[in-house]
Amino acid sequence: MYTKTMTRLFLAAVILAACSGNSLTQIQPGEIWPDTEGRHINAHGGGILKQGKDWWWFGEHKADSTTKALVGVTCYRSRDLVNWKYEGVAFSVSDDPDSPITKGCVIERPKVIRNPKTGKYAMWFHLEHKGYGYKMAHYGVAVSDNIRGPYSLVSWGRVNPGHWPANLSDEERAAIDAIDLDAPVASGSPEWEEQSRIGRFLKRDIEEGQMARDQTVYVDDDGKAYHIYCSEENMTLHIAELSDDYLSHTGRYVRMAPGDHNEAPALFKKDGTYWMITSGCTGWNPNKARMYSAPSILGPWTRHENPCVGPNADLTFLGQSTFIIPVPGSKANEFIFMADIWKPKHPIDSRYIWLPISWKDGLPVIQWQDSWTPEL
Ligand code: DGJ
Repeated sequence: MYTKTMTRLFLAAVILAACSGNSLTQIQPGEIWPDTEGRHINAHGGGILKQGKDWWWFGEHKADSTTKALVGVTCYRSRDLVNWKYEGVAFSVSDDPDSPITKGCVIERPKVIRNPKTGKYAMWFHLEHKGYGYKMAHYGVAVSDNIRGPYSLVSWGRVNPGHWPANLSDEERAAIDAIDLDAPVASGSPEWEEQSRIGRFLKRDIEEGQMARDQTVYVDDDGKAYHIYCSEENMTLHIAELSDDYLSHTGRYVRMAPGDHNEAPALFKKDGTYWMITSGCTGWNPNKARMYSAPSILGPWTRHENPCVGPNADLTFLGQSTFIIPVPGSKANEFIFMADIWKPKHPIDSRYIWLPISWKDGLPVIQWQDSWTPEL
């Protein structure tokens, strides 16, 4: 009798656990993060989009021993930002060796936004063609009628060929004109740094279009969308306006923090002020986060101190910024900072840092916590 009851209770517990699926109650930055099937979430350098009650997480599928794209962009869905159900590959690499997204290319930092006019979803990402390392510095954009995809490639390439930035003063333009591209400068030398800041690479790439590596997209309250990307040999960020359908650039863009050598841009807006968190450029290794603010997305941007606080704060807790999730209406975590702990030798084991942003003296603060529960 006793054994029968125990067996029944045990079976009921197993069935309940299997049916509930929602087994996690906390986010544990830096730890393995199992999806609802128990597999470590594979969506790196990602971004989050909320549609109705669902949160969607898009990110790079990382393989076991290469950082190249062998699968594409995966997506996961959640109602509580803690328990994520795998929804499949939203944007797939191609088996066609001639395709720009052929298996073995680089697809990084994908971000999805929904266009209210067309109802379509646009996925922007950093694309490097197979066999070229990080030389091409291309953007890519793909589109889908459904949030979970499949997304199909619309276009790729350098950004805004033939267009000069909208925020160059006459003096700045004259200084660029004075740069002699035929006079070589040693990479990394003080002169190289100074010419990068002035715009040597901007000038070099005017006809071909501007380089685009680490990137994100941001939709402002007025519905205008912007592509924010590392350009000019990673020395200067650009903020470029997107067309009404979010699928191309308009030709209008600004330079931001010239010569600051930023990567990994992530943006949010609070009470009319735009905040951007970035990293320095040290490959897959972590470095100190940077922070900027501006009264308008097109600038002018002011630099602030590193917002991270806690163990390894000077190395962004061993991670690198990727996205900031807005959670409107939440007092405890109105904005959540997302970062990646990269493991280039074993990329599939890369980890996630998600931490709520708090405020001190009017500035954002990212305080380390071993575990926490988002409030929605
Ligand atoms: C740092 C970037 O943020 C990553 O997305 C990736 O491009 C690596 N560099 C490659 O070294």
